[in-house]
Amino acid sequence: MSKMQRDFLNDAKEAEAAPPPALTNSFSAVDGDCPEKKSLSDNEPKLVASSPGSKEHSSIFYSTTDDLSEVTSVDLTISEKSSTDFIVIETSKCTVEPKENDSESLEDGVSIKKDSSESGEIVKPEKVQKMVRLQSNENMSDNVNLPKAMSLKPCPSVGTSLEIYDYVMRSNGGGGENNGAAMMEEAWERLKKSYVYFKGKPVGTFAAMDPMAEALNYNQVFVRDFVPTGLACLMRDPAEPEIVKNFLLKTLHLQGWEKRIDNFTLGEGVMPASFKVLSNSHQQKETLIADFGGSAIGRVAPVDSGFWWIILLRSYTKCTGDYTLAERPEVQRGMKLILNLCLSDGFDTFPTLLCADGCSMIDRRMGIYGYPIEIQALFYFALRCARQMLKPERDGKELIERIDKRITALSYHIQKYYWLDFTQLNNIYRYKTEEYSHTAVNKFNVIPDSIPDWVFDFMPLRGGYLIGNVSPARMDFRWFLVGNCIAILSSLATPAQATAIMDLIEERWEDLIGEMPLKISYPALEGHEWRIGTGYDPKNTRWSYHNGGSWPVLLWLLAAASIKTGRPQIAKRAIELVEQRLSKDGWPEYYDGKTGRYVGKQARKYQTWSIAGYLVAKMMVENPSNLLMISLEEDKKIAKPKLTRSASF
Ligand code: GLC
Repeated sequence: MSKMQRDFLNDAKEAEAAPPPALTNSFSAVDGDCPEKKSLSDNEPKLVASSPGSKEHSSIFYSTTDDLSEVTSVDLTISEKSSTDFIVIETSKCTVEPKENDSESLEDGVSIKKDSSESGEIVKPEKVQKMVRLQSNENMSDNVNLPKAMSLKPCPSVGTSLEIYDYVMRSNGGGGENNGAAMMEEAWERLKKSYVYFKGKPVGTFAAMDPMAEALNYNQVFVRDFVPTGLACLMRDPAEPEIVKNFLLKTLHLQGWEKRIDNFTLGEGVMPASFKVLSNSHQQKETLIADFGGSAIGRVAPVDSGFWWIILLRSYTKCTGDYTLAERPEVQRGMKLILNLCLSDGFDTFPTLLCADGCSMIDRRMGIYGYPIEIQALFYFALRCARQMLKPERDGKELIERIDKRITALSYHIQKYYWLDFTQLNNIYRYKTEEYSHTAVNKFNVIPDSIPDWVFDFMPLRGGYLIGNVSPARMDFRWFLVGNCIAILSSLATPAQATAIMDLIEERWEDLIGEMPLKISYPALEGHEWRIGTGYDPKNTRWSYHNGGSWPVLLWLLAAASIKTGRPQIAKRAIELVEQRLSKDGWPEYYDGKTGRYVGKQARKYQTWSIAGYLVAKMMVENPSNLLMISLEEDKKIAKPKLTRSASF
């Protein structure tokens, strides 16, 4: 093991041992509280550190033991010499041999190893094991046009101006390392400027700070938009958890409001979509105003807000080790109210959650009413996070039992019925219809003729994904990025499915990443489908906004998913693309066009989550152990559906 690798292992152990608020051993404090701690951590490979290395070479360190006594290093070498790309994965397993008395006990009884330089422990490579050569990324390097510094060809109509633009891009760094550092600096500055204060304390961030556009509701703090900001603050070194805590408590307070729309009252657990601070300078008074969907376009309550709130609460607890926040009675109550909304008995025959269109990040009609994957994945993620944080006292035990049952049912349903790859597509294509009784194969009576033509071309032999929606006689075959990445992060997707999703992203790089990461949905609804699906929405025209537009904020989700699946090079390539344009374009909210080339028709500039998403992606690539704040290991207790798998597995 090289010195650099040793240093990283030592760093990782120091990080584990350091007191909060850094990434600490109390990192597992929440897990420690959790009755299912064992199943969550036992023998699961954990990412403990990474060496950023160079673009061509980097290392990741995994451990299957809590005390990091056994660490496996994975060297990723991307060779770009020939037309066939290889990733050389070199694995070496190291055993840290403890000397006597080399461990210290921490308050919560977790034993950690002392720094090796102090204790003189021997880090001994057990065997320098295998060199696996994977033929991979053919599509990324050969078929995909990924300009290093985007070279624009002058065309007669614009002539030299494009050359100048090209020159400016190159001389500004065009995505190089310097540009990355400068962008990080700029991003932090802009993020700070977007802070919203209430009674002198930061409680969130404006959605956008575009001096050239009408504010509308972009001067509010959106719950979903704040998540990447919150993560950026937690991942920063040193962490800045205060704003996250304030945000969590303020939104919790707002949850307690009575929510009325016309004469109808919403469920107690509903979290706001957004809030703003009203200042009356005359009376020197500040008040909060929240929107629970009553002011939103389409008057839809945000189903995702409560889930994101629970997920961020876990990230906060993981990062800081401050689990007193999650344990507060009002916080426990807030979690329970959110979950009660989703776990109540009804007429459902599916474990998925029935939703109105426009109840999530895609907050306008886009034909996703029913059981959209984004909400189902967030639901699952929130259930598992809450499962770690809920205390079994009083009614808690019964709720935990309901959560366990739902986790099992939901993962079975999604893994089995939402999964689409080449084999499964072929199965559906050959479905018989009108089948009755329990022996039915085509359970939802999907008519094969309803499979859109584009899927047959889009589906690679290698790869697969969770489709957009499943309900009686309906499968929405569209790709939605958020749902798929959240499914990976929460381990809703099986490891094999997670790998196949990343395969698909590589295989369909041009469609899903294009020139500016990252397509929110694919493909766009056009013509008649657009008229029916969006209700003639002029903002969601084809390849724009939610309808096949490209959203830079999604970079952090891609980065997290690619690191979790051991494919950090995907994140790096996407970041390179972002670094070529995002700052120069003024951090737009979204891009339009099939490849995402154009700044979106109505995109705000200086959109806060575009800025925060970039920061989070960078910090995860630079220090993959940050992933632990937003990722869950596979829950081995959950029964797995039997699937016919395609060759992609
Ligand atoms: C748009 C987006 C929504 C986001 C909001 C604020 O409405 O669709 O997801 O939360 O802007 O940025």
